[in-house]
Amino acid sequence: MRKIIILYYSSNGKTAELAKHVRSGILDEGNNEPLLRTVVPLSKNQLDQGVPIISKTELEECSGLALGSPTRFGTMAAALKAFLETTSDLWLSGALIDKPAAVFTSTSSLHGGQESTLLSMALPLLHHGMTLIGVPYSCPELFQSSGGGSPYGGGHVSGSQGENPVSKEEIEIAKSLGFRLSSHVTKIG
Ligand SMILES: Cc1cc2nc3c(=O)[nH]c(=O)nc-3n(C[C@H](O)[C@H](O)[C@H](O)COP(=O)(O)O)c2cc1C
Repeated sequence: MRKIIILYYSSNGKTAELAKHVRSGILDEGNNEPLLRTVVPLSKNQLDQGVPIISKTELEECSGLALGSPTRFGTMAAALKAFLETTSDLWLSGALIDKPAAVFTSTSSLHGGQESTLLSMALPLLHHGMTLIGVPYSCPELFQSSGGGSPYGGGHVSGSQGENPVSKEEIEIAKSLGFRLSSHVTKIG
């Protein structure tokens, strides 16, 4: 089975929750193995999710990647960016070229920068030569979600105190993203 890494950073657990739904979509597709991974937090008091820290070798050897981050001032969290900035050797070797990738995020507010964050996460992946997978409008929940989720990737709107549960539409969009990512990995073989 080919490995698809779901690499995310989450300080309050909402992006972590979305990551589990992306994983479930990969499992539904059935041909690939999802691996949940995180990055070293910048501060010690951030949530320990019991998820392993990614190793560069794992990233190098993966067949696909889903990248998740909370929105921080309209862009990805520094901890995730810091990890990405250690990957120039993989960029030089072309290790990630043509591998499918997808992105997801969580914001506290509806217009708090979901799409800018998703696009900011897509940029380094495009530099790596990865093939970006989004969510087409054949996913009906894209029309129905009053929270997160867009053609650019998965999303959740958590509320200012994290009070919103992940909605069924946000779950379906995240699952659909995982399923689609996995089916592209399967097609590439
Ligand atoms: C430094 C900082 C900056 C943030 N910037 C934004 C923002 O630009 N837009 C927004 O809607 N939420 C913003 N938030 C809120 C988080 O994106 C939101 O709480 C998110 O759901 C947290 O995800 P997590 O539970 O995975 O950590 C910010 C939070 C922090 C700590």
